[in-house]
Amino acid sequence: MLAEDLKSRIRRSGPLSFSNFVEACLYDSENGFYTKTGRAGRRGDFITSPEVGPVFGHLIANWLDQLWTEIQKPKDFQVIEVGAGCGTLARTILDSEPKCLESGSYVMVERSEELRKEHPTSEKLVSTMQMPEGPIVGAVIANELLDNLPFDLLEGDGNCWKEVCIDLMDDQFIEILTTEKDPPIEIAPLKGARIPVQTQSNNWIKDVIEKISKGSILLFDYGSTTQEMSQRHQDSWLRTFKRHFRGDSPLEDVGNQDVTVEVAIDQLPKGFSISTQKQFLENQGINKLVEEGRKIWEESSSIGDLKAVKARSRITEADALLDPKGLGGFFVFEWKIGSSGAVSEN
Ligand SMILES: C[S@@+](CC[C@H](N)C(=O)[O-])C[C@H]1O[C@@H](n2cnc3c(N)ncnc32)[C@H](O)[C@@H]1O
Repeated sequence: MLAEDLKSRIRRSGPLSFSNFVEACLYDSENGFYTKTGRAGRRGDFITSPEVGPVFGHLIANWLDQLWTEIQKPKDFQVIEVGAGCGTLARTILDSEPKCLESGSYVMVERSEELRKEHPTSEKLVSTMQMPEGPIVGAVIANELLDNLPFDLLEGDGNCWKEVCIDLMDDQFIEILTTEKDPPIEIAPLKGARIPVQTQSNNWIKDVIEKISKGSILLFDYGSTTQEMSQRHQDSWLRTFKRHFRGDSPLEDVGNQDVTVEVAIDQLPKGFSISTQKQFLENQGINKLVEEGRKIWEESSSIGDLKAVKARSRITEADALLDPKGLGGFFVFEWKIGSSGAVSEN
């Protein structure tokens, strides 16, 4: 269905930019992947850190309280989570009862109406489709949002970079090289090399920076540099997923699989600090949480009650969240915004 709509669009108006193609595949108002069934979670298409279990949200709640303390404990502290999915992270953060939310509020921003229907409800929580207007005092957080924002593609021809667009041949989607385009950073256009151009991510972050008067943006995602991606095969950084398996080429099965890209760290707006998820969670005290869990389990495993089982599961959760080859190797980007509204340079 979506494939037919896109084909008519191409016949009518010519080739589509890759970002327009991804936009339709993921968010088409009727047949986009996230409009229909796409979601994180064990019963979904991929596992994200909040879906591993409550430990991730508990440690983010700690981080939120630290930020709240740093900016002198404002009463109107806001947490805005963008790309909130079905609300799992919001649920676990609220369950952790951070002090910053005693008088503050938590806004879940999610594009997909289907996922918004599952958002938890409470007087502290707001569920919305659109990012609130500023000025914001508090934190804007997102887990695996940037990798799902539509992006363009360039291919080198030995002399210059050309835009990769989607056209039709024999009624099938094909990639074609169109006009010459400057890359977002200086990089040699080696023949056949490909790079993503992540203008939407860059603009989204700049827009959020403008809206925050005091606080931070904290983003979790996988990433690498544009240079590094140019040296790897595109399939290793532009991936598709469906029901926990790698999917087909992005030109196949459109609207029925996730299309994601590694975040190009060097294309993000300047002024952020960066760590791995492993470093970040260790700084937030994950090891202490695991040790406490182990102790509770050892003391009460014979009873095997819910408290003991939950404590035991912290150990396996931490293993998944800290694995340097998996979620632990993700990056955590933070832009701190001072009372002047300026981004502090790292
Ligand atoms: C990979 S999922 C991550 C979900 C959740 N954060 C998690 O970690 O489980 C990305 C989510 O971002 C949502 N999304 C994408 N662009 C968005 C936007 N501009 N505003 C709000 N949500 C958006 C998608 O609909 C999808 O639910």
